[in-house]
Amino acid sequence: MTTTKPRLLTGLQSSGTLHIGNYFGALKPFTDTYQDYESFLMVADYHSLTSVRDPELLRRNVLDVVKDYLAVGVDPATCTLFRQSDNQDHMELAWILNCMVTVPFLQQAHSYKDKVAKGIDANAGLFTYPMLMAADIVLYDTDIVPVGEDQRQHLEYTREAVGKFNRTYGEALLKEPAERIIQNVGIVPGTDGQKMSKSYGNTIPLFGTTEEISTAVMSIVTDSTGERPEHVYAIHRLLKSAAELDPLYEAHRGRYGDLKKILVADLETFIAPLREQRAHISDDDVHAVLADGVMKAKAISQVTLERVRQAIGIR
Ligand code: ADP
Ligand code: TRP
Repeated sequence: MTTTKPRLLTGLQSSGTLHIGNYFGALKPFTDTYQDYESFLMVADYHSLTSVRDPELLRRNVLDVVKDYLAVGVDPATCTLFRQSDNQDHMELAWILNCMVTVPFLQQAHSYKDKVAKGIDANAGLFTYPMLMAADIVLYDTDIVPVGEDQRQHLEYTREAVGKFNRTYGEALLKEPAERIIQNVGIVPGTDGQKMSKSYGNTIPLFGTTEEISTAVMSIVTDSTGERPEHVYAIHRLLKSAAELDPLYEAHRGRYGDLKKILVADLETFIAPLREQRAHISDDDVHAVLADGVMKAKAISQVTLERVRQAIGIR
């Protein structure tokens, strides 16, 4: 396939059961834009190994995160969806890039420093994590990497390694990627009004049952001043425009129970097809998608890696 679209790549680690905050803050921004690029979506299971010690969980997380993305509409025919560990080119380039940077440089990485500061016994994988991520990116001559603010430094590290490599072996051998920081257009509030987060137990699950949705919505905190119930409204606004909602909220002024029931119904309309979609995706479907994805991925990464091997004197 020839294409003139810029290349976009991002990596996913499983974050457990998703909630609607994850959807509107992370999945939707990706699904809305990935087809404007030649896109690569990679499950970073070797990165997960820096913290996950349960083999069944590591395996399960890969299947789950792929199902989540397929269920919300990522089309594996128009994007290369693959698992990092299926392509050993990542390991080889990570080693080469590790040889480009110094220990004091890696010691300055926030991701590493934060763990050490928390008293976590950091393993060497965690220490060299940024160079594996750099390999993930540059193997595909990636132009753009959409990530959250917490990953910004990893892109700076990637450019640093690329710069060192290119100055040593030849300009433009590796491509310098740019980050695109995903700004949270709005923080989705949880049922208690704080940021919706799995760690606060205040979520509306993205693939939840009707009952789970209803229980969550009914527990949304409201004040008793008779004004509009702000958290109910804020969640509702994710699904409908102000023009649609405002007359409704005016008509049901002060009747929070009724408004919550309407929100449950609207959430059900939004979630039911996603839930349905996800239930139809089998583990075998995921394996088939990943098998196809890694073939597409390797066709590109092999070319980059061969160029690198030649340059460094391994061939
Ligand atoms: P959690 O807080 O539930 O642990 P994560 O930290 O795993 O969520 O976040 C995964 C992605 O979802 C990130 O890109 C993050 O910005 C987005 N996200 C999480 N919670 C929200 C929220 N309440 N509103 C908007 N985006 C969110
Ligand atoms: N480190 C990223 C995170 O925790 C995941 C990741 C791995 C990644 N490899 C990547 C993101 C390559 C973008 C590009 O979110």
